[in-house]
Amino acid sequence: MNTKKKRVLITGASGLLGGNLVFVAPQHWDIIAVTYRHTLHNIPKNIIAHTLDLRDEKSMHALRADGAFDAIIHAAALTNVDQCEQEPLVARDLNTTIAERMALFAREQDAHLVQISTDHIFNGVTGPYYVTDAPTPINEYARSKLEAERCITALAHTKTTIVRTNFFGYNVQEKNDLAGWMLQELAQENPIRLFTDVLFSPLLVNRLIAILIEIIDQRIYGTQHVAARDGCSKYEFGMMLADAFACDTALITPISIDESELAVARPKDMRLNIDASAQILETQMPTIAESIEYYRQLECASYASLIKKLL
Ligand SMILES: NC(=O)c1ccc[n+]([C@@H]2O[C@H](COP(=O)([O-])OP(=O)(O)OC[C@H]3O[C@@H](n4cnc5c(N)ncnc54)[C@H](OP(=O)(O)O)[C@@H]3O)[C@@H](O)[C@H]2O)c1
Repeated sequence: MNTKKKRVLITGASGLLGGNLVFVAPQHWDIIAVTYRHTLHNIPKNIIAHTLDLRDEKSMHALRADGAFDAIIHAAALTNVDQCEQEPLVARDLNTTIAERMALFAREQDAHLVQISTDHIFNGVTGPYYVTDAPTPINEYARSKLEAERCITALAHTKTTIVRTNFFGYNVQEKNDLAGWMLQELAQENPIRLFTDVLFSPLLVNRLIAILIEIIDQRIYGTQHVAARDGCSKYEFGMMLADAFACDTALITPISIDESELAVARPKDMRLNIDASAQILETQMPTIAESIEYYRQLECASYASLIKKLL
């Protein structure tokens, strides 16, 4: 039996998804990890780490020198929706041009490309969204991510997977995602206001990673929706988190996004329908409550502080 591990290139390795991948995936694959401003520390022997600006064409030389790859998980991006709106050209550079470059590189290497895309590409009027629904982005972040999907698809490299998702989890960096921010505020007994009319279907990043492992190991291609089996509002999500982490739910006030002063238009209903992908994938996608319960178990296992040792 051939037990040689696959060689997988992970971009965005200091981000929320990439950091968790670097923490978990060396058990499955040999890893080449690319960060930009951050440097990885305390990594196992089967990770080669690079700090590269992937906007620079020459960065590909360093990656070519590492030898052939079996797969690429492209998770590097500009995920700050406000910054994307203020600097659309920067958003295009980081979210579209680099993705296209990674797709060309994957084709050159005959490697499987997994592009991490987003639920944000839909306008949020008629969710939940099926894989077959036409995306109609309403802000620059979404436009730059959809354009990346289109550029990659146009290259017609058959070994390509586009994973549309939304996730939460513990971050290698000292910055919070939505779940981390909610818990931090509630732990400090600060009141928070959460939208009742913004719906999504997030899953724990560790559950997403289990599915990415299956996608690469089983060579699953095409566009996949990888999300919670159900959906909820941001308010309901906060209430579930507060319950699971024994915080005071009275600190949470339900509000409408229409009452807020967000500078950038955001879709209201970002829920993803997972039926088509669930028929292909063996790994079951969790409900939101299941993800939150696993998130709590990881907290008890000190996962949040262990993962921070990578930076
Ligand atoms: N978070 C979510 O809920 C969510 C939802 C849907 C889709 N997504 C998608 O999932 C992917 C991962 O998101 P995330 O939240 O994990 O991202 P993130 O935490 O914002 O991390 C972004 C990563 O991109 C790297 N990067 C930025 N500019 C770069 C450059 N010029 N060259 C090389 N690397 C660069 C950063 O490196 P340094 O930090 O070292 O500079 C960092 O590792 C993205 O494609 C995002 O669009 C995220």
